[in-house]
Amino acid sequence: MTILQIMADDDARVLYRTTDPEEIRSKLEPLGIWFERWEAAVPLDDAADGEQVLEAYQDDVERLCKQGDYRLVDVVRMHPDDEDPEWQEKARTARGKFLDEHTHDEDEVRFFVEGSGCFYLHLGDQVYAVVCEAGDLLAVPAGTTHWFDMGERPRFAAIRFFQDEDGWIGNFTGSGISSRIPSLDELVAA
Ligand SMILES: [Fe+2]
Repeated sequence: MTILQIMADDDARVLYRTTDPEEIRSKLEPLGIWFERWEAAVPLDDAADGEQVLEAYQDDVERLCKQGDYRLVDVVRMHPDDEDPEWQEKARTARGKFLDEHTHDEDEVRFFVEGSGCFYLHLGDQVYAVVCEAGDLLAVPAGTTHWFDMGERPRFAAIRFFQDEDGWIGNFTGSGISSRIPSLDELVAA
């Protein structure tokens, strides 16, 4: 379920919550945050490789690349693997990478093909938590303070869009705010 939950940044009290994609789009657009819903041209399953994923969304991918001047596109996938004894540790490491508040010098643009993940946008004295699921595209402009939670059991596949090969580095703010705001798992359970 796609969710937008707006919270006060000091005590995380909920100011607004919706699961309506159109409402989410119209709340985010005036803030320069781009949200869209895409549909695959052909059905995809978990076994689809990156090439098949990009083919299924080719028209939207090409349109967005032109719109945002994105030059590099790839597909990342993270699935629970209970056969792998190190999976929990790998998942924790992957989750921890961008779980603290940061900015990037270029846009952070993700389309969710499967699964879910939550972007937290810290705008003024509010936090906009956007739980994205399959079919959701979110574009966070360069310089926006944000963090990303893939949850305790990360499961997602996403198309990533980049403007520059080296542009996507986290500049961490050190604010510690992400530990005071509900996690992806908590938002979904609420
Ligand atoms: Fe980021």
